Amino acid sequence: MATRIGVLTSGGDAPGMNTAIRAVVRAGIHFGMEVYGIRGGYEGLLNGDIKQMQSSDVGGIIHRGGTMLYTARCERFKTPEGQDKGFMMAQNFGLNALVVIGGDGSMRGGIQLAKRGLPVMFIPGSIDNDLGYTDLTIGYDTSVNTVLDAIGKIRDTSESHNRTLIVEVMGRHCGDIAMAAGLAGGAESILVPEQDYDLNLICRRIVEGKNAGKRHYIIVKAEGVKENPYEMAKLLEERTGSETRVVVLGYIQRGGAPDSTDRILASRMGYKAIELIAAGSESRAIGFVGNQIVSYPLEEALNVEKSFDDEFLKIAEALA
Ligand code: ADP
Ligand code: F6P
Repeated sequence: MATRIGVLTSGGDAPGMNTAIRAVVRAGIHFGMEVYGIRGGYEGLLNGDIKQMQSSDVGGIIHRGGTMLYTARCERFKTPEGQDKGFMMAQNFGLNALVVIGGDGSMRGGIQLAKRGLPVMFIPGSIDNDLGYTDLTIGYDTSVNTVLDAIGKIRDTSESHNRTLIVEVMGRHCGDIAMAAGLAGGAESILVPEQDYDLNLICRRIVEGKNAGKRHYIIVKAEGVKENPYEMAKLLEERTGSETRVVVLGYIQRGGAPDSTDRILASRMGYKAIELIAAGSESRAIGFVGNQIVSYPLEEALNVEKSFDDEFLKIAEALA
């Protein structure tokens, strides 16, 4: 009997999730497996929203944002009863393995299914890049490019109006999106949750910049820095005299076509997940380290602390 696997996307969507689904479905069929799509993450698993997929079902999605399997945040699945039910539903459909595409919460869910005896291959799909065991998560690079595009436009209008702009970006507790887009976008200041910032210094730089004839000052602030950006803007305006505006970029950072980095990453990771299942592997988390696709036991991967390197901040500060 053919190996029968399930695939789902869970948590916040990310550009490249569709590319990963395509890779899992097509590689699975290539290796002689039956592939079942589970719609709406763990919520769909609990509801039995599960259907066999053919190669043609994933045609024309390699370049599309969002996830054709939909996604959800499912509170029920956080309980042992929910997890038991999810495991039983996978058994009802005869699934021998499951591919979970999502962030750290989704990996925690996968670990619970693995503990109950269902092998789980985890593929990191999240714009946040907040998992310590992998250099990249699928969607992060595209998201950084979206922020970069926005910073370019914001710089145009800031320059015209001689303003200070606070651009708040996503990333949950992680400052990676802010650091990468801030450095590449030439931001004057980058604020991340991993490092304290000096408000006096920012104010002084704004004033000095103005005195030197600079007509814009862009602050990229990660959402994980808990200060309210509108209150921060008011304070900066009072203390520097520079008109200050706020842009909270929000969900545009999660949408749009995946770039080449994310498409290649998703294709490689999807293929690797299937290779592991075909080899009869135990549950693993797929990662990307030093340009290689790697895999680790799930709990080991989850427990790798995300490291923080202030190199980008130092360079951005020196070049601003
Ligand atoms: P992400 O996967 O992007 O980090 P969430 O943290 O919202 O997003 O997690 C996605 C889903 O994974 C949750 O809605 C829930 O169903 C499941 N999940 C999250 N944390 C756990 C947990 N500790 N145990 C079991 N399932 C979890
Ligand atoms: O994890 C992806 C992410 O976009 C985070 O950057 C953000 O904090 C969160 O999801 C927003 O979640 P929601 O979609 O529930 O508003």
